[in-house]
Order: sequence, then structure tokens, then C-alpha cells
Amino acid sequence: MQLLRDIAQLRAWRAALGERPDLGFVPTMGALHAGHLSLVEASRARDAVTAASIFVNPTQFGPNEDFDRYPRTLEQDCARLERAGVAAVFAPEAAAMYPSGDATRIEVEGLSARLDGASRPGHFRGVATVVAKLLHLVAPARAYFGQKDAAQVAVLRRMAHDLFLPVETVVCPIVREPDGVAMSSRNQLLSPAGRAAARALPRALRAMGAAYAAGERGAAALVALGEAEIAREPGLRLDFLRAVDGETLLPVDAARPGALFAVAAFAGATRLIDNAHLDAAGQWRM
Ligand code: PAF
Repeated sequence: MQLLRDIAQLRAWRAALGERPDLGFVPTMGALHAGHLSLVEASRARDAVTAASIFVNPTQFGPNEDFDRYPRTLEQDCARLERAGVAAVFAPEAAAMYPSGDATRIEVEGLSARLDGASRPGHFRGVATVVAKLLHLVAPARAYFGQKDAAQVAVLRRMAHDLFLPVETVVCPIVREPDGVAMSSRNQLLSPAGRAAARALPRALRAMGAAYAAGERGAAALVALGEAEIAREPGLRLDFLRAVDGETLLPVDAARPGALFAVAAFAGATRLIDNAHLDAAGQWRM
């Protein structure tokens, strides 16, 4: 596996692959877990070559967020990616991605201000900007993202479509710990009590799924049920639980195929997210 530390090295590696290789790309911020590795596996199953990036992107963190605390485990991450069959990892410094004078940002209007974008102003501008830069440099046929970041997926799909990027966006299911908590690099930041409290998120989504299976279709009723479940957990402070359309992130009244039930909550200083959605066949997926 090649570790590419700057843009010149990435360009040289990419040029050697030729014009339109069957290349899959997994962008990450490192601190890799089984969720990330499932994206790598999906690419390995489909693409001739898989590349990944590890970059804790400063522009997607707000001034009082956890940029400094975000776990950084480059050596371990590279070892895991190598074992998983990744051909190259791009791990640049912030100054390479945002050199002095850098002034261009990608704003996906509307979508960027919904769900997590409402709670984290500027977050999706940072995500869209760095992903646009990465896709431009890596020029993959396919890029892989996790369904856990459902709002990010909606923003990035819109961006790729609007900018005519010749890349297919592949979305992989949420990978969960045995107790149901969605895998996240931020789980490492939780205290034992916070980690226990985090279970209320999948518990709320499961309760909503059970009500849906029993025939409840009202979005407000399902959301109220989930909120009540989270309110029973004193270790969590709810940011939002919303029923929206998975593509536009606009509110929906009824649980229909394509609906997304997204939740965000704080355990101490750590913000956790999770979601469930209704697939095209109306199955509750989480
Ligand atoms: O999902 C993430 O880890 C990040 O938001 C991404 C897509 C790598 C951009 O920094």
C-alpha cells in the first residue's frame, strides 16, 4: 500500500493508473472502525483498485466543536487499510488541502442548512468543499459513504449531480456495535456512562420501527415515540429527532418509502447521530 502525503504524490499515483480506471474511493477522517472497513470491503468487491483518504478536515468543524479532540490514529489506520487491500491512502496536511489564499467553498444551498446543518452552521460547506477537492484529485469511478451520515449523503449526492462529477455515489448500511449503537469514531470520546447512554438512540429508532411495523404511519406520532424513549435516558440531551425526505431533507408528514428518521443527541460534550429509513419497499432499515 502506498501512503501519499501530499498532492504531488497523489497526482503521480493517480496518473500512473491511466484515464478511466475502475477505481473506488473511500474518504475518511481516520480513527477507523468496522463501519469504515465495510466501505472498503464494498469497494474491494466491486472495483479493481481501492483508494482511501484520511484527513481530519478543519473546515467542517465549528469553532466550539471537537476538531482538537477528534481521534487521530494514522499508523493503526494505515495498517488496517493495508490489511483490507487498499492500494493507496492519501493523508495530506491541512496546509496542502487549504494552502494560503485558498478561498473557494462549495455551498449546497438549502440542503446544507437542514438537519445537522441547522445545528452545525457551516458544517456541510466544509464537507462539500473537501469532498469536491478529493473527488477532483482522486477522480474515482465510485465513492463510498456510510448511511449513518444520511444528511451528508443527501448533500454530497446533490453536489455530485449539480457539478456533473463523473462519479457514482455508493451508500453502505450502518454498522452497529453488538448493543445496537452505530459505529462512530466519536464513540471513543465517550465516558463509560456516555457510552451506556448512547444505547438510547438505537432503542428509540427500534421503538419507532416496532410502531411502524404495527401500522403507525404518522410521522409526528413516530417522532414523539422516539423522543419519549430518549427523554427516559438522563445521560442524553436531544438535539433533534426528525422525519424528513431522505433526498431533500424536508419534513414529511407520513412514513413512506424514502422517509428518513434522523436523530442527534449529546452525551456530555460528544454529539452522536443515528438514523433509520424506509427503503423503496417500505421496510424499516436502521
Ligand atoms: O464522513 C466523514 O468522515 C467526513 O465527513 C468526510 C466525508 C470524510 C469528509 O471530511
